Amino acid sequence: MSSTSVIGLQWGDEAKGKIVDLLTPQHDVVVRYLGGNNAGHTVKFDGATYKLSLLPAGILHDTVVSVIATGVVINPKAFIEELARISDQRGEVPVERLKISDRSHIVFPYHMAQEAAFEKARKGDAIGTTMRGIGLCYRDKAGRTHAIRMCDLVRPNVLKQRLEEILPQKNAAIAAIDPDFVPFKVDEIYEEYSVYADQLRPYVTDTTAFLHKAVASGKRLLFEGAQGCLLDIDHGTFPYVTSSNSSGCGIHSGSGVSERVISKMIGVVKAYTTRVGGGPFPTELDNEIGQHIRKVGNEYGTVTGRPRRCGWFDAVAAGYGARISGIDVLAVMLVDVLSDLDELKICEAYEINGERTTDFPAFIDDLAAAKPIYRTLPGWKENICGVRKKADLPANAMKYVETISALIGYPVEIISIGPGREETILD
Ligand code: IMP
Repeated sequence: MSSTSVIGLQWGDEAKGKIVDLLTPQHDVVVRYLGGNNAGHTVKFDGATYKLSLLPAGILHDTVVSVIATGVVINPKAFIEELARISDQRGEVPVERLKISDRSHIVFPYHMAQEAAFEKARKGDAIGTTMRGIGLCYRDKAGRTHAIRMCDLVRPNVLKQRLEEILPQKNAAIAAIDPDFVPFKVDEIYEEYSVYADQLRPYVTDTTAFLHKAVASGKRLLFEGAQGCLLDIDHGTFPYVTSSNSSGCGIHSGSGVSERVISKMIGVVKAYTTRVGGGPFPTELDNEIGQHIRKVGNEYGTVTGRPRRCGWFDAVAAGYGARISGIDVLAVMLVDVLSDLDELKICEAYEINGERTTDFPAFIDDLAAAKPIYRTLPGWKENICGVRKKADLPANAMKYVETISALIGYPVEIISIGPGREETILD
């Protein structure tokens, strides 16, 4: 067995796309299993930059099959536009190389409208979502009665019937909280989505059966996580989370494949911490150092362009993410961004209501009250982007990475010191 998974251990944006891209050549199938076009992956190689949102990063390799599995929620318009963009950059993607689950759920314009109305109603307490309708689509999935799946979308009669049932209720629900709302019309949505259905139909299949056969025939699967453990609907900083299992817990439910096939789970962390959207962030740096990290690390959202909140590495939070997911090794990303700082801090415990703890609290007000207890380490001034071996890293940089490893309790297998494929230390 040599299947692998790549999981973000923080609040997303850990540069998982780069790791997936690096590992893809050693795999046969790349599987995206959660989230939707709220996710953003940037991959750079050979002087080109690729921005991916719904498509697995495996799409950039001609040798693998990319699977968008059951747990993903699909905005067909966004998917078609992204596929067209990647086809322009890399050439047409043959149908055999891209498969979309017939069990996946579909995002409709009313999901976005409802999300906007809900977020507006929360005023200062907004979750700060990406406004892509993701949470509302998952809400309909869990509620069952208002959901439309891919297998419904590609059957015109079923699509029409489902829209006729659902839309009047959706219109009424949105109008009740937003007086300016203009109701959606069944015919308009049906016509628009029928065109998408025709374009998607060739890719739609039973991905669960496909993956089971791939496993049985010894194919190597690479599970590509989206978002991060602390945004997990069950285990994250609720309610400031996304609406799916974005920790390792989501692999099995989102793909239909048991994680027992995975021989290595890679937990990906940034060498510092970032967060987009609302919610507590104990190690946030609302000062010059935070601004410096944002500038050097180019910490702006791939999807929404929002500036990311930046802070010191939080070993309590990332360690919690690692344990929920059951990782084997760590990849520490963007270490180069910290070059040039005189000293660095890593949060090794929280003080909550006068008590020291290394447990990650459930109650959001406890997390908001948590005072980070820091370990201070000396910085390094050298430019490390050209380093290719651990032995050649400045001693202070290595010590920093080793401290992260010791505090989280897992070995570091990969150190990334730049966005390019080659800017990676593997030994
Ligand atoms: P939603 O997933 O759009 O519902 O947003 C819920 C929360 O998850 C917000 O704080 C978003 O900023 C955050 N979020 C969603 N997707 C990503 C991602 O790919 N990276 C980082 N944060 C994300």
